[in-house]
Amino acid sequence: MASASRPLSWVFTLLSLLLLTPLIAADTAGCGKAPTITSGTRTLTVNNKSRRFIVRLPNNYDRTKPHRLIFGVHWRDADFQAVDGGSAPYYGLRNLATGNYSTIFVSPDGLNKGWANSGGEDILFFDAIIKQLSDDLCINEKLIFSLGFSYGGAMSYSLACSRPKVFRAVAVLSGAQLSGCSGGTDPVAFYLQHGVRDSVLNVQMGKQLRDNMLRRNGCASKNAPDVARNSRSKAKTEYSCTAGYPVTYISFDGDHTALPNDSGGDGGANSWSIREVDTFFKQFS
Ligand SMILES: *[C@@H]1O[C@H](CO)[C@@H](O)[C@H](O)[C@H]1NC(C)=O
Ligand SMILES: *[C@@H]1O[C@H](CO)[C@@H](O)[C@H](O)[C@H]1NC(C)=O
Ligand SMILES: *[C@@H]1O[C@H](CO)[C@@H](O)[C@H](O)[C@H]1NC(C)=O
Repeated sequence: MASASRPLSWVFTLLSLLLLTPLIAADTAGCGKAPTITSGTRTLTVNNKSRRFIVRLPNNYDRTKPHRLIFGVHWRDADFQAVDGGSAPYYGLRNLATGNYSTIFVSPDGLNKGWANSGGEDILFFDAIIKQLSDDLCINEKLIFSLGFSYGGAMSYSLACSRPKVFRAVAVLSGAQLSGCSGGTDPVAFYLQHGVRDSVLNVQMGKQLRDNMLRRNGCASKNAPDVARNSRSKAKTEYSCTAGYPVTYISFDGDHTALPNDSGGDGGANSWSIREVDTFFKQFS
């Protein structure tokens, strides 16, 4: 009698393991630990260089809850304080990371106020940050994101190329390929917005990133016309791609602007793009 039920219980054990393993594997070693890391500036040595970053824990940080981790990457000639402060910290996402979306935010500091990523050293910097935070804080490894404007968008794109299994999605606000794309064949969910009047990185440079991601994510081709110059409008295209790897492109009438308003000027904390990127990232759970 017992011998008949035993194989069955093994089947159940195996099934539970198969079902639970992906959930357990998504949580970092820091889950359950009293954190030693607090909000503020930290330093790491990477490639024999001292590197700085700001980390922001949610006020209600709960060590038992796997948090989202979002990197906000600064633009050229700025530094990590620019993303961490201002009227829309972390490109506006921090103020929206409430309730079930409580999030750990990180603003890394580039070398020489940029993201040249020489020899891949900036990618290694992100690796080191993720390792340090994962050992101490409770992070959902399946919900790691990066976004940035201009050079910060270029660096986010480079992360999508080199670390496609680490980053669930990246958002590029008026970026281009300036930080390399080592690897660059695996899919990563991707959001791009770019102004048709961009006088710093022209819109073709942004669309080059988009087209590469469309190939990687197996998206069906789709007509995605850019808005006309001075049309004071925007156009959003959502592509049909391999499940789990969506691509969204928003063309807007504006110049080189991180957070545009409806006339393409600087919308700051009222920019439509904050809600768009927030919604794009929050579709993943
Ligand atoms: C690391 O940098 C220090 C100076 O900051 C230098 O003395 C040392 O030789 C460097 N080490 C390597 C392995 O490059
Ligand atoms: C938050 O998550 C919990 C547990 O999954 C769920 O019961 C609750 O409805 C969620 N709340 C919101 C506002 O989504
Ligand atoms: C957009 O921002 C610009 C400043 O950059 C401002 O002059 C303009 O009035 C704003 N337009 C709207 C519709 O908010």
